Amino acid sequence: MSMKREKPQMFDMTGKAALVTGGASGIGWACAQALAAAGAKVAIVDRDSDQGNQAADALADAGATATFVDAELADPDQAEAAVAAVEQAFGRLDAAVNAAGILGPTGPLHALDRDAYKAAMANNLDSVVWCMQHEIAAMLRTVQAGGEAGDGAGGSIVNISSAAGVVGFPSCPTYTAGKHAIIGLTRTAAVDYATQGVRVNAIAPGGVDTPLIRSTTCATAEGRATIEGLHPMQRLAQPSEMAGAALYLCSKAASFVTGAVIPVDGGWTAQ
Ligand SMILES: NC(=O)c1ccc[n+]([C@@H]2O[C@H](COP(=O)([O-])OP(=O)(O)OC[C@H]3O[C@@H](n4cnc5c(N)ncnc54)[C@H](O)[C@@H]3O)[C@@H](O)[C@H]2O)c1
Repeated sequence: MSMKREKPQMFDMTGKAALVTGGASGIGWACAQALAAAGAKVAIVDRDSDQGNQAADALADAGATATFVDAELADPDQAEAAVAAVEQAFGRLDAAVNAAGILGPTGPLHALDRDAYKAAMANNLDSVVWCMQHEIAAMLRTVQAGGEAGDGAGGSIVNISSAAGVVGFPSCPTYTAGKHAIIGLTRTAAVDYATQGVRVNAIAPGGVDTPLIRSTTCATAEGRATIEGLHPMQRLAQPSEMAGAALYLCSKAASFVTGAVIPVDGGWTAQ
């Protein structure tokens, strides 16, 4: 018996095309960098055009094939156009990380503003539905076309849910409802497309040190200490700590993984 001592190729994304929604910042940006470093062509899809262009330029400067697509993903027409633009730019779509999201309104449910709720659900849940519809269609076309990048990984969608998609999160009923729904959506799509070469999984991050959390629940030292204390590891994650799980799920290393929800949460939901 002999063991090959080459570097593992199972995370290699050479020849693959990926898009990352919310890729201009935080978790999405970390995932975009990991996919590009693994060899994928990467499209940053975001409504922040300044930061989105900077992100795509940074990937290109590092030697990757990268592009930016400006889209407000709560708008179904813009979501459709964005996915179409990526498929046209790269001629295929193998992987999609859906990370665009906001915290939305906080406070008790009985005081929740109806319009704020609807806007946040459109941003956090509807946008994932609109993106997934077109990502799946593009991935089915890619799988059917075959080609040399066909390595058993098939199409792969990675939805960024949250620990708040698995357990209750105080004072965030809208965010929690949307993130739980993303997990149901993930599992159902996983089952529906399991024999068609498209895998659908989710990551459930704990608190991650990004602009989203720094401007909301962790805006004060007290708030940050409270959030850190929810984790057995007693700290927030860095965005880069989310990227390995996303790359794994996109790669052929996860060719038999679909419908999974991977907690990357410092032990939060293990308690
Ligand atoms: N930071 C955390 O602690 C944490 C924890 C669990 C889950 N998450 C989830 O991770 C994802 C990324 O969050 P982050 O912390 O990196 O936030 P972030 O604010 O750093 O990045 C989010 C990006 O998404 C974009 N975006 C948001 N809504 C959009 C829309 N409707 N259309 C287009 N672009 C849009 C923003 O412009 C931004 O570039 C979100 O879905 C969030 O709910 C974050």
